[in-house]
Amino acid sequence: MQALNNIITRRSYRVFKDDPILKSDLNKIIEVASNSPSYTNTQPWELAVVTGKNKDKLTGELLELAKMNAPTSPDIPKPESWPSVLEARSREHGKRRLEILGIERSDKEGREKLRLMNYEFYGAPCALFFFMDGSLGEWSVYDMGLFTQNLILAAHSLGIGSCIQASVVDYAKEIKRFLNISESSKLLACVSMGYPDPDAKLNLYRSIKKKPEQFVQWYE
Ligand SMILES: Cc1cc2nc3c(=O)[nH]c(=O)nc-3n(C[C@H](O)[C@H](O)[C@H](O)COP(=O)(O)O)c2cc1C
Repeated sequence: MQALNNIITRRSYRVFKDDPILKSDLNKIIEVASNSPSYTNTQPWELAVVTGKNKDKLTGELLELAKMNAPTSPDIPKPESWPSVLEARSREHGKRRLEILGIERSDKEGREKLRLMNYEFYGAPCALFFFMDGSLGEWSVYDMGLFTQNLILAAHSLGIGSCIQASVVDYAKEIKRFLNISESSKLLACVSMGYPDPDAKLNLYRSIKKKPEQFVQWYE
C-alpha cells in the first residue's frame, strides 16, 4: 500500500529550499535504485552527484550558455515533432505552467525567466546526471529510465522532491567537460533534487494524467 501511495504522490517540483540533502540519504537512495531491472542484468547506469561549490559553479556556466542561447549538443536528439495528440498535451503543459505564475504567452521576459530556472536546477541543492556508455542503444535507455524512476521514488519516500530535466542536458558536451567524463559517454538526463518549497506558486502546478480507459485495451 505504501509503495502504491509513493507512486501516486510523486510529482515534479520546480522550486526547492536551500537545505542540503544528507549524504547518507543520497547514498541510501542510490543504493535502493541499484536494485533496478535491466536488459540481461547489464546495469548500464553511471551517475554523477553534484552538490555544494561544484553545483554552484556548474549552475553559473550553464546559465551563461542558456542566456546567450549557445548552440546545444544533446546526446539524445530532441524530438522534432510529436503526434498531434501528444503535441496537444505538451502545449497544455506549457500553458498551464504559465497560468499558475500569471505569465501571459506574450510575456517573453517572463517565459524566459521560467526557462532559465531549469539551468539553476530550480534552486535544488543537488543535481544528478545519468550517463551510460556511448556504444549503448535503445534497450539501455529503457533501463536508464527504470533506474531513474526508482531513484526518484526512493527519494520521494524520504520526503525529497525532484524534477527530471532534459533541457539541462542540451549542454551535454559542456557538462561532461565540467565533470571530467569521457566525451564518448551518453548523458541522458539531469535530475534536480531537494526539499520542495511548499509556498512556491510554481509547485502548485499539477500535470493532468490520462486515464487508463484512454490507453488500455483488454483482451480477455
Ligand atoms: C524525459 C523527461 C524530461 C523532462 N524534462 C523537463 C525539463 O527539462 N524541465 C522541466 O521543468 N521538467 C521536465 N520534465 C518533467 C515533466 O514536465 C513532468 O514529468 C510532466 O509534466 C509530468 O508531471 P509530473 O512529473 O509532476 O507527474 C521532464 C520529464 C521527463 C520524463
